[in-house]
Amino acid sequence: MQLPRVHQILFGGDYNPEQWPEESWAEDMRLFHEAHVTELTVNVFSWALLQPSEEVYDFSRLDKIMDLAEANGMKVILATSTAAQPAWMSTRFPETNRTDAWGRRHKFGGRQNICPTSEVFRTYAFRLAGKLAERYGRRSCLAAWHISNEYGGYCYCDHCQEAYRRWLRQRYGTLEELNRAWNTSFWGHTYYDWDEIVLPDMLSEEFDYMGNPGMRRTNVQGNSLDFRRFSTDQIIALYEGEAAQIRQHSAAPITTNLMYNFNDFDLSRLAKHMDFISWDNYPRYGGHIADTALWHDVCRGLGGGSSFCLMEQTPGVTNWHLYCRLKRPGVMRLWSYQAVAHGADTVLFFQMKRSIGECEKYHSALIDHVGTDNTRVFREMTALGGELEKLGSTLLEAKSTARAAILLDFESWWGTQLSAGPSVLINYLEELQTWYRFFFTAHIPVDILTAEDAVRGVDSSKYRLLIAPMLYMSRPGMDEAIRTYVREGGRFVTSYFSGYVDENDLVLPGGYPGKWKDFLGVWVEESDALPPELSGRMTYKGETYPCHILCDLMHPVEDGTEALAVYQSDFYAGMPAVTRHPFGKGEAYYVGTRSDARFYQQFLGELCRGCGISPLAEAPEDVEVDCRRNAEGTFLFFLNHAEEERSVTAPADGTDLLTGRPLRKGETFTMKPADVVILREQA
Ligand code: GLA
Ligand code: ZN
Repeated sequence: MQLPRVHQILFGGDYNPEQWPEESWAEDMRLFHEAHVTELTVNVFSWALLQPSEEVYDFSRLDKIMDLAEANGMKVILATSTAAQPAWMSTRFPETNRTDAWGRRHKFGGRQNICPTSEVFRTYAFRLAGKLAERYGRRSCLAAWHISNEYGGYCYCDHCQEAYRRWLRQRYGTLEELNRAWNTSFWGHTYYDWDEIVLPDMLSEEFDYMGNPGMRRTNVQGNSLDFRRFSTDQIIALYEGEAAQIRQHSAAPITTNLMYNFNDFDLSRLAKHMDFISWDNYPRYGGHIADTALWHDVCRGLGGGSSFCLMEQTPGVTNWHLYCRLKRPGVMRLWSYQAVAHGADTVLFFQMKRSIGECEKYHSALIDHVGTDNTRVFREMTALGGELEKLGSTLLEAKSTARAAILLDFESWWGTQLSAGPSVLINYLEELQTWYRFFFTAHIPVDILTAEDAVRGVDSSKYRLLIAPMLYMSRPGMDEAIRTYVREGGRFVTSYFSGYVDENDLVLPGGYPGKWKDFLGVWVEESDALPPELSGRMTYKGETYPCHILCDLMHPVEDGTEALAVYQSDFYAGMPAVTRHPFGKGEAYYVGTRSDARFYQQFLGELCRGCGISPLAEAPEDVEVDCRRNAEGTFLFFLNHAEEERSVTAPADGTDLLTGRPLRKGETFTMKPADVVILREQA
């Protein structure tokens, strides 16, 4: 991800001086210097100031902001401002405004309120990006481009519907093929004309099908899946439209900031167009710290294992959460180093100066409403900025050392999210988090791979263990790639509701899991959904564990399949719940239910040991341990997320990068709450 002319972990973030009198800017800069700020992300929401009308552009204020940043030695991530179109555009060209799932064309307001297929919007957005790049593309302070901001949401307007029909014609060629792929003989949905096809919104296929408000299910999954694929393509077209303009005038790398646990679009496809991955980290109060670690690893994975950019986090409090809890003393620093531990080469914030108006006036910033450095947040940010300055380039471009991988498939996420049955408790992301938490608490690093990575083939000599939670959808190439991975010695694990359908969400005949029965060695006859108040039981190696959500009733398809766990409850007591099947030089496992943390610790702990995958260190579960390696060395991160002191045993001789303290292998050191230790292993 190496940003040009940047030789340290960038520290800074969103700065919107256009909200303030120019006379205040110098004091801002003085305070930024005091806090060791090295980067400013500017121009995120300035379109209406840059282009007051169709014909008129005014870059005079942005010129001053860029000059100010450059004169103060700041690196700039320059946004293209296209996430909020000007009011005149919404008024003159209402088609640029989004139409929601109820068919309502929105008026001017908010942001990301656009129709992604609108030619008017695209024309003006691409033109603005080009003008910005022409004007600022060679500024020495320019580190990177930030296209739009947090792409999100779908548009259901007539224009999108026309574009969707063209997209479908392109994808399927004939109505006959579309009717087949969408199984439209179901409920008399056969199409005889492309114009009969409508967007799957709340006035058609995604009307809350089962009468459960807020549960987006669909009548025709093929249509809903294709609409999400189409919408991903529209966002990629918007991104590429701006990027193409930028590349004509600037060599600086280009990104767009992604969001936490977000799947409106297939991010693995959008990511391929980005020069580097960036995302905005706003953990909600009460969330599990492993879920943040997971999304850091997702972003590293979306970038093919490269470093990513933490584009935003709050210095202290986020205004839009239900409960705007302050980050406790030390937590901002702890979570900043958590990002670095997982591959971030920037620590950037939203934002540098707190707005006084509009909906984010209660969102934290480096410079608070008091306007001075006399705040807890300012002091903590300054301390962190000083540390990062001292670290220099030591940690830049350091890679993960993981030997285990988890497969994240956006299309299986969509498919399970939209599926009417087998249970409203089916939740792809929760399943992913459940498996990931084992690796987090066991201090075993894990990489996140995408479906594309799987189709390209997973090297079993690099990843000895590949977990594919609820890999619902098989698709051309993936079946063979996973089969090869196992045959060549990999250990593959998948869970309930996996391998059921093809890329059109058509169930693969011959019994679940479709094309994978040979290497998984099981056939799933039927599945029993457990409401939240019920749980089943299974025994695994003499221990009893709970079964939740779904119990897949499976049969071995050949003698080699071993039942590692069997159900102990209900009419299917005695049937296999967890199986192992040797295949080629490897093994494939099927976990037919959701269990508790104790089970995954036991099951995956044994599996990891069997694969020669060991924890990075011995540490309490609430002390996070990560590892990054580059030419400067191997760095073990210890992050105490507990609210009490914790003791940790140093796994190697080395030195704490932050304090210079030497540590001997086997030495026990104490960590206070929110403490961070970065042990540089002795070479
Ligand atoms: C998002 C946006 C920012 C700001 C923050 C507030 O990440 O990118 O513009 O709204 O949220 O948390
Ligand atoms: Zn539209």
